[in-house]
Amino acid sequence: MLLILFMGLISFFTFYYFYQTNKYKIIDDYPGPTPLELLKFVLLPKSTVDSYKFVVSLNKKYGPVVKIWIRPFKPTLLVSDEKFIKHILLSKEHVNKRSLFQLLEAFVGSGLPMMSDINLWRQERKMISHVLNNQFNIDYISTFKTHAIKLRDAINKNLNQPVDLQMLLLRHGLNIVYDLLLNEDISNQDDRVNRYSTALKTFFEVYFDRINSPLKINDIIFKLTNNYKIWTKCSEEAKEFIESTLKTVIELKKKSPNKNDRKDFIDLLLESGLSYDRILAQLRTLVVAGSDTVSAATGFALYELAKHPELQERIYQEYISIVGVDENVFAEFSDIQQMSFADCVMKETLRLYPPFPFISRTLIKSAEIGDKVFPGDTDLVFSIIGSHYLNFEEPTKFKPERFLPENATKIPANAYLPFSLGPRDCIGKIVAIAEVKFLISYIMRHFTLHPINDHKADIAGEVVLTSKNGLPVIFKKRIIE
Ligand code: HEM
Repeated sequence: MLLILFMGLISFFTFYYFYQTNKYKIIDDYPGPTPLELLKFVLLPKSTVDSYKFVVSLNKKYGPVVKIWIRPFKPTLLVSDEKFIKHILLSKEHVNKRSLFQLLEAFVGSGLPMMSDINLWRQERKMISHVLNNQFNIDYISTFKTHAIKLRDAINKNLNQPVDLQMLLLRHGLNIVYDLLLNEDISNQDDRVNRYSTALKTFFEVYFDRINSPLKINDIIFKLTNNYKIWTKCSEEAKEFIESTLKTVIELKKKSPNKNDRKDFIDLLLESGLSYDRILAQLRTLVVAGSDTVSAATGFALYELAKHPELQERIYQEYISIVGVDENVFAEFSDIQQMSFADCVMKETLRLYPPFPFISRTLIKSAEIGDKVFPGDTDLVFSIIGSHYLNFEEPTKFKPERFLPENATKIPANAYLPFSLGPRDCIGKIVAIAEVKFLISYIMRHFTLHPINDHKADIAGEVVLTSKNGLPVIFKKRIIE
């Protein structure tokens, strides 16, 4: 009996091996690490810093298309090649994703990035995009102002000593996005926010443990582990965090309907026709997608600026030439659009430190790219960081001037994609750009930044790009003559 079972297994694996080899034979045309190197990578314990270094090194070593394949499993192509970007990311058809990222749904909710029912995704994306980018109704700037003042006060209490930008900005990013989307200022609700932030941190730890274990990826096996209880508890905490506010806000709106022309995000969502459950799901996702990303971008920008006093001076001069020196006057949306040098600094930060360095797509049907045809169901991982390294001169240097109009024409088409490209790109990019530029220019107006000698950030691609040894800098009050 055992022998029959054993023979059956061997036959199944042999069949599967040849089936996969034949189906994906086109992928064998590309270079990549050997199965042994990959097995070592998958099985040996490693930090998220090492994992990130390994994956980033692949495009540098093997070029813009890298095969990642341990037979008989399915291969993945790691790409940062313009042809793939043009034919897949920009295509209206290939909008599906299937990646380990999807496991995050338990915590972040079934909002846009997690949705695999494409018709429903298209419908809801249209609604959310309309609501999120409705600058007439949503008063982004006054929320930016309120929280920028609080950030300035927090910095003022920690002048002339090392401050970790990540710690400082993570909470700030959450406060802003929560206020923008849910109309509630949570900056004084330490207990509640700490519970949510701890749940988020713990959930991500379990997530990384899970995706690094070939067994725990399986739902049935994972449900038998202790971590499953932690996973569920954190997810419930996340849902409760958003839902408690949403319920109160809706109740208040019923009691005293808004008589102004100006509506907020929740008014617009309720009017959009989305059900309560879908609004909750989308809000849970938007809070996560819109907080750590912006905090990471702002943190890395300030970290680089600390090393470059001449760039700080340029942003400051640009700010006062547009907004003036009166500290009670703040930049408006139109002012932010005029801040062309702050724009270059933000762009260069997102080139060197893209908050999401990798994104995925799964081919919905076979696709012709150049002279090759890839079968449907092929998994692609687009390396945003790979494209940002391979297509720019001196790629590891922080040089915002590359985005000045006279230089930007040299950037190859579709090579710069921190917000992704095509129909499934970042829906919050307009808000994100405005927020990062508002913050960095406001901070330059009030402070100068100074580096900590020899600090070198240990970059890790956790869910959002992070520095494992923090981003320490020293703030000093700017002396205005
Ligand atoms: C600097 C800040 C940000 C960066 C670099 C960024 C980057 C990205 C990237 C690379 C994607 C993946 C797209 C893909 O798979 O092709 C994405 C998706 C998304 N982002 Fe952002 N993002 C940022 C801020 C925001 C903000 C502020 C919000 C909302 C408030 C937001 C909401 C979303 C949503 C909902 C999606 C999923 C879109 C979909 O699947 O249709 N993001 N973002």
